[in-house]
Amino acid sequence: MLTIDNFDAYYGKSQALRDFSVKVAPGEVLCLLGRNGAGKTTALKSIMGIVKPQRGRIVLDGADLTGLPANRIPMAGLGYVPQGRRLFAELTVRENLEIGLMTRKSGPHALERALSYFPALRERFSQRSGTLSGGEQTMLAIARALCIEPTILMLDEPTEGLMPSMIATIRDVVIRLRDEGVGVLLVEQRIDAVLPVASRIAFMDHGEIKAEMEIDAVRADPSVLKTYLGVGH
Ligand SMILES: Nc1ncnc2c1ncn2[C@@H]1O[C@H](COP(=O)(O)OP(=O)(O)O)[C@@H](O)[C@H]1O
Ligand SMILES: [Mg+2]
Repeated sequence: MLTIDNFDAYYGKSQALRDFSVKVAPGEVLCLLGRNGAGKTTALKSIMGIVKPQRGRIVLDGADLTGLPANRIPMAGLGYVPQGRRLFAELTVRENLEIGLMTRKSGPHALERALSYFPALRERFSQRSGTLSGGEQTMLAIARALCIEPTILMLDEPTEGLMPSMIATIRDVVIRLRDEGVGVLLVEQRIDAVLPVASRIAFMDHGEIKAEMEIDAVRADPSVLKTYLGVGH
């Protein structure tokens, strides 16, 4: 279980996160939805300790991680796929995965399990990651995050710019992770990207969570989408 309580974060004097609180339990998918600039990426970076929150608390599986340096957060079992993937372009697929494995000194079974989600990566092992297609890079970024055997995995707009077939692949992986008991915090801008996988939806705007709803309640009353996202459904 990941618990974030009352994060505030700033860029200079500008407040980017206001009283941000979420809980993600094992086996559920919490989707963080909001327009460009709403603060979704800042929220994930604050959780990872990349942006330092000025207030608030983070607890993962009973361990208080508040104030830890950014390199210690993944070691506690929090997986992160940043927006735009952030691979080491000059390194091969294998080397990118090895970095994931070193983070928590995971054994070969962690690599096997990560690759079981994306068998196609095996054929690319010695290829430089910068030469992969966009979809393959996304698969590698997720596989690298899975190499730490996370109890909670956070994905920042993983389907951005991908073809429909690759979007379906990512969706199936999220569903499989959920069903295997991983908690997923999924950031997206578009509701259709998350409807098939979400357990709950948190709507974010101006650095704040404006509402949080069970997915069934969103399906029953889609007018909330217009209220919080400004889209008609
Ligand atoms: N490194 C930064 N320095 C200053 N302002 C930033 C930085 N990153 C993001 N911001 C600002 O913080 C706000 C939230 O951005 P971001 O978290 O990237 O939103 P989202 O991921 O929802 O699109 C925006 O107003 C953005 O311009
Ligand atoms: Mg973003």
